Amino acid sequence: MGPKMARVLVVCASKEGHTEHIAHHVARKLEDARHVTRMINLSLHDGEAGADDYDASILAGSVHRGGFAPELTSFLMRHAPAIRAHPSAFLTVSLSAASHDAHELAGLGEIADKYLFEAGWCPDFVEHVAGAVHDRQLNLIEKVVLHSVVRQHGEELDASGNTDFTDWKRLDRFVKEFSRKLV
Ligand SMILES: Cc1cc2nc3c(=O)[nH]c(=O)nc-3n(C[C@H](O)[C@H](O)[C@H](O)COP(=O)(O)O)c2cc1C
Repeated sequence: MGPKMARVLVVCASKEGHTEHIAHHVARKLEDARHVTRMINLSLHDGEAGADDYDASILAGSVHRGGFAPELTSFLMRHAPAIRAHPSAFLTVSLSAASHDAHELAGLGEIADKYLFEAGWCPDFVEHVAGAVHDRQLNLIEKVVLHSVVRQHGEELDASGNTDFTDWKRLDRFVKEFSRKLV
């Protein structure tokens, strides 16, 4: 017999759609490992019925202006007892995670630590995932600001208008490690 199958809840809050993409990828990899997943996209107001009836959960949220979406916080508040009772992971998605600057990375760590402290949640894994810049999802000011952040990082922007900094292989390694907690 293969490893035990677990029911994993994958929750995301995504403004420009990249965290949703990441959450789908994570769910697909878990299913490849024979687990059963359910995705809830809080930004699309997906229903939450039965959200406490899982063996493990992964919450993914993007950083905007130094914080996470209020819908992620309220989900955490509503479901904290169930989330705390089983293996869990927090995926933060941001441009800071693509930086090589120790100060910027430390700032990201502080944002996540403060958020988790206030939520009273101590996940088994905290994974900082580098996000993306999708020009078409941004207004002019957002585009100018994000492009300048990318240049400060010493990175190039893709001419297509979609620049993806996510290290998908690293994300797959996280899924493997998380899966190990489920057996
Ligand atoms: C208005 C705006 C504000 C942002 N603020 C931050 C920030 O404070 N720190 C950061 O590291 N990234 C910031 N980002 C980058 C996003 O976290 C990144 O683009 C991420 O991939 C967005 O994920 P989403 O598509 O799921 O919303 C910001 C992006 C936008 C559009």
